[in-house]
Amino acid sequence: MKKILRYILLFVFFAFVVIQFIKRPEKINEPVTDNDIIGLLNVDKEIAAMLKASCYDCHSNQPRYPWYANVAPLNWWIGDHIEHGRDELNFSLWGTFTARRRDHKLEEMVEMVEKREMPLPNYLPMHKEAKLSDEQIEKLRKWANAERANIAAETETEN
Ligand code: HEC
Repeated sequence: MKKILRYILLFVFFAFVVIQFIKRPEKINEPVTDNDIIGLLNVDKEIAAMLKASCYDCHSNQPRYPWYANVAPLNWWIGDHIEHGRDELNFSLWGTFTARRRDHKLEEMVEMVEKREMPLPNYLPMHKEAKLSDEQIEKLRKWANAERANIAAETETEN
């Protein structure tokens, strides 16, 4: 029995070493542009800090990578979050969204945060600074609703 266990551990160890050589997902680090939501909407400092601490690692072109993002299989998992997160919502590209899309994304943001589905719960144990308090969620909600009102007012004048 002991022998089998030793073989299993040895196998796991070699598999771990071998997967380190599999192609790694490319790390994303693009310069901040005028399309970034924070600059574009002149987002209040507190909200900006919240978005950066809690959302930008998966929803922007400037994710911060922890050291273990260099270790397979974690790097695939992290790369996947960033890819899918940015597909759904990329705050770095806010300026390229239509008014309708912005409005919808603001609505979804509040919904996801209030339901505590975002930031992704499995991200929080390693990112304590990303956890939002009830008070922070309330501020985010107020901010998002004010932005939605701005969008409604803008589209009103366009028609
Ligand atoms: C660890 C990565 C990660 C973090 C941090 C994160 N998200 Fe996400 N987010 C995702 C992924 C992956 C998806 C797409 C898959 C899904 O819906 O679960 C997503 C989807 C979304 C969606 C689209 C939901 C839908 O169903 O259309 C919204 C809105 C969103 N996130 C908002 C936020 C906000 C706001 C924050 C910060 C408070 C945040 N996310 C933080 C990974 C993340």
